[in-house]
Amino acid sequence: MAALVRRRSLYLLLSVCPFLLGPGANGGRCGYQACPAIKPGMLNVHLVPHTHDDVGWLKTVDQYYYGGQTNTQRAGVQYILDSVITELQADPRRRFIYVEVAFFYRWWRQQSDSMKELVKQLVDEGRLEFVNGGWCMNDEATTHYSSIIDQMTLGFQFLNNTFGKCGRPRVAWHIDPFGHSREQASLFAQMGFDGFFFGRLDYQDKRNRENEREMEQVWRASVNLPEPSADLFTGVLPNGYNPPRMFCWDMLCSDEPIKDDKNLDEYNVDQIVYYFNQTAYKQATHYRTNHIIMTMGSDFHFQDANMWYKNLDKLIKYVNAAQETGSNVNVLYSTPSCYLYELNRANLTWSVKSDDFFPYADGPHEFWTGYFTSRPALKRYERLSNNFLQVCNQLEVLAAADSRSGPYGVGDSSVLRKAMAVAQHHDAVSGTEKQHVANDYAKKLARGWEQCEVLVSNALSSLSGMKQNFIFCDQLNISVCHGIEELSKFTVTLYNPLARAVNVYVRIPVNGTEYTVHDPRAGLVPNQYIRVTFDAHTGLINGIENLLKNLSLPITQSFHWYTASTGDKVSSQPSGAYIFRPKQEQPLPTAKNVKTYTVQTDLFQEVYQNFSAWCSQVVRLYKDQQFVELEWTVGPIPVGDGVGKEVISRFDTSLKTKGIFYTDSNGREILTRRRDYRPTWKLEQTEPVAGNYFPVNSRIYMKDSKMQLTVLTDRSQGGSSIKDGSLELMVHRRLLCDDNRGVGEALSEPGYDGKGLVVRGKHLVFLDTVSASAELHRLQAQAEYMAPWTVMAQGTGTAYSSRPKHIAEFSALKEELPPNVHLLTLAQWDSQSFLIRLEHQFEMGESSVYSKPITVDLANLFSTFKIISVEEMSLGFNQRKEDVSRLKWRTGPAKDSVKSASSRKDSSKHEVVLNPMEIRTFRVRIQYL
Ligand SMILES: *[C@@H]1O[C@H](CO)[C@@H](O)[C@H](O)[C@H]1NC(C)=O
Ligand SMILES: *[C@@H]1O[C@H](CO)[C@@H](O)[C@H](O)[C@H]1NC(C)=O
Ligand SMILES: *[C@@H]1O[C@H](CO)[C@@H](O)[C@H](O)[C@H]1NC(C)=O
Ligand SMILES: *[C@@H]1O[C@H](CO)[C@@H](O)[C@H](O)[C@H]1NC(C)=O
Ligand SMILES: *[C@@H]1O[C@H](CO)[C@@H](O)[C@H](O)[C@H]1NC(C)=O
Ligand SMILES: *[C@@H]1O[C@H](CO)[C@@H](O)[C@H](O)[C@H]1NC(C)=O
Ligand SMILES: [Zn+2]
Repeated sequence: MAALVRRRSLYLLLSVCPFLLGPGANGGRCGYQACPAIKPGMLNVHLVPHTHDDVGWLKTVDQYYYGGQTNTQRAGVQYILDSVITELQADPRRRFIYVEVAFFYRWWRQQSDSMKELVKQLVDEGRLEFVNGGWCMNDEATTHYSSIIDQMTLGFQFLNNTFGKCGRPRVAWHIDPFGHSREQASLFAQMGFDGFFFGRLDYQDKRNRENEREMEQVWRASVNLPEPSADLFTGVLPNGYNPPRMFCWDMLCSDEPIKDDKNLDEYNVDQIVYYFNQTAYKQATHYRTNHIIMTMGSDFHFQDANMWYKNLDKLIKYVNAAQETGSNVNVLYSTPSCYLYELNRANLTWSVKSDDFFPYADGPHEFWTGYFTSRPALKRYERLSNNFLQVCNQLEVLAAADSRSGPYGVGDSSVLRKAMAVAQHHDAVSGTEKQHVANDYAKKLARGWEQCEVLVSNALSSLSGMKQNFIFCDQLNISVCHGIEELSKFTVTLYNPLARAVNVYVRIPVNGTEYTVHDPRAGLVPNQYIRVTFDAHTGLINGIENLLKNLSLPITQSFHWYTASTGDKVSSQPSGAYIFRPKQEQPLPTAKNVKTYTVQTDLFQEVYQNFSAWCSQVVRLYKDQQFVELEWTVGPIPVGDGVGKEVISRFDTSLKTKGIFYTDSNGREILTRRRDYRPTWKLEQTEPVAGNYFPVNSRIYMKDSKMQLTVLTDRSQGGSSIKDGSLELMVHRRLLCDDNRGVGEALSEPGYDGKGLVVRGKHLVFLDTVSASAELHRLQAQAEYMAPWTVMAQGTGTAYSSRPKHIAEFSALKEELPPNVHLLTLAQWDSQSFLIRLEHQFEMGESSVYSKPITVDLANLFSTFKIISVEEMSLGFNQRKEDVSRLKWRTGPAKDSVKSASSRKDSSKHEVVLNPMEIRTFRVRIQYL
């Protein structure tokens, strides 16, 4: 019935268009069945009309949507969508893909019902296809897996709610991110994608792959999950994401149109057909099947879609017409999924890869490893915002409707959810946007915080039965907490979003030292673990000892800076927002001797080190923590001498590391790194420092046979081991040149007072045996990104009338989860259901205790509600797990070593078994108790 109604309204709307009511391109089916016909014996060229719409870069996301600020960039997404829909309507053979739901959602809200119906029909017929389908096309180097999953889920949710099954993307499409992480591929596989295409990889790697016809293969993206659950067919696009030379027909391009009237001047059909044939054959030499893909579009293309489609129509017409005179090229409108489907049907055996695509260089001396650190304050604010979003999500579930509307007003978690999704974009948290755009991302996050603060206040008062005068220290990021310093008496509420108990120290700025703390559960466990020693002469750390394990390691820790290159005789490439290019291999020390002073209390010891006017550090040992906390403050980096500086914290030891060190991938699995080496191709190293930098999202470590030195970070940073026994993390950078990758600004952040950005952050340093280290850093890393949330209140509050009694302590869980299980997500999904993700947070072999399959009883988990039904979903929450069916690929042996794991089955519906590194996603219906 619904289909009939839709057809009728379309007929009225489009009665001028004869195609629509005819047989149509494919009879109203989406998915692979909607794919265009190909010619088996020919070279089939899949033209993919597309636009790459950055969710903020030179302009803010909203500026891009409307298309103002044309002097900065001629780019308006609303025009793209308007224009494309009109052109798709005109001819059912035409195809278009759309990617960034953040924009599509803005557009959709403004459309009439009849336009919405029309767009739904285009989607149902596979003529408009969503690929990737996240809120944005996220960065892969500086993002945390928790936020990647959330932003993809948000995009999928819109697509499912709006278009149902036909809106489900089958292909992941990261055509612009600057290098590719293995965890991203693993997550994509777990989201049910059939394949993945991208544009950027190291130029040497690409050359080798072209020569060896290895542009397409299967990425085995986890060494823990059983095959093929983290296998993802992965293709390198031929030309980044641009059209081939001479075939760019956008209003932003300057290639010649197809001039096909023989009576007019400059008739060029024969040249075009000839050159297209040449281009297609050349490209085919790098690929294995008789199908090739051409990306017809680029940044913000299709604002005047007619220009593209008119020329593509002609291209198809004339190239295919030549088949009658013996040409073997067949060109067609297609989509990435239709191209992927043909690759799959070719039934070849594909090679396997299990390392990642970092770092990315687009030429000699041009390593995109600077953005691993660029805009360190935004990177921290983003990570902290995720912390708050998870707290907000959880409290929304626990306090139900009371959280959304209560004594503090109306609160809404979706504002922060959307702001976080936008912040994952590959020019957002990456730090490669213009300054005003970075400010806009921070502003959007702050608006999300405001809404979540209302929600959290409502929830806390509902759960505790106390209405309090809450004060949110939302400027703790700059060590300011207005409203507390003046008070003589205040209440501190802590909400722990982890599903297990943690011991934490909470630091609150107060006025004076005379405070008494009343704890609902008094008592601390004093402890001596770790000891740090200092050089009496230089004031630098010169050793760390683990007394319990009888380990001791001489370590010199200090801050250095690299002089940023501004281009030289070897290469004109300067250091910039994207690119790291130091002038020298040996960084300069910020100070040889530092002034120190010591503070000691019953709870902690602190040593203050003053390196320079713009660089200082507090070395802090807590009584019952097994790490050394290094709280560094760097900035404003002085550039008055005309020299850009890239500041690192470096740990030099005598550990025999043989060029090997380890970094995490998006906060999850660990990858082994080796200096001047890539696992699957022979590297010609051009930059001994920048070419050895890797993304560090949460940890970096090195080890010998006996002990391991691990550093946890509080945000994403670039890191490396430039010499054996040495680890370094880049903490801040301030530059005076643009690096010619489009942003058009030098990365010199003004900070809030305009004098240069000051950044404060933490490194947690562990020294332990190799066998015990993973347990420590896994558990601590989760406790850092999902830290207890601190809410202050003036006085002690008043009873909240609707609640019977005041509760000083509350747990949402019946009992805490075992240490290897992480409650990754607990969030409201729709009015009837909730989203729960449980994660096994250990890798195989990491821990003799925790790297084992573990069973969790979902039905018996929560104290505030009863679970009445459970449905397992795919990771992105847009399909039931049992409905997931991915294309199967035949694989050959791997070039590099790959382990394979086996899986265990659940014993009952509510008893969930988690294998190492497994995430399981559930849609549950509940009843509040
Ligand atoms: C997807 O959309 C359908 C309706 O089109 C709905 O029934 C289903 O619950 C949605 N799935 C999720 C996970 O929201
Ligand atoms: C297309 O190019 C191939 C390879 O260069 C060539 O063999 C073939 O003859 C060309 N076909 C036409 C119709 O020009
Ligand atoms: C794919 O190739 C394998 C090995 O050559 C063969 O056994 C199998 O039948 C083929 N499958 C299809 C669908 O052609
Ligand atoms: C601190 O947080 C505020 C919002 O509460 C944000 O606007 C600001 O950018 C943050 N500053 C830094 C240096 O992170
Ligand atoms: C701190 O306390 C002193 C003495 O009670 C008072 O004079 C001062 O104003 C307070 N400072 C702030 C920032 O509240
Ligand atoms: C501690 O280590 C040192 C040097 O490795 C060794 O000589 C000593 O016997 C060890 N002590 C204990 C109690 O194991
Ligand atoms: Zn982009």
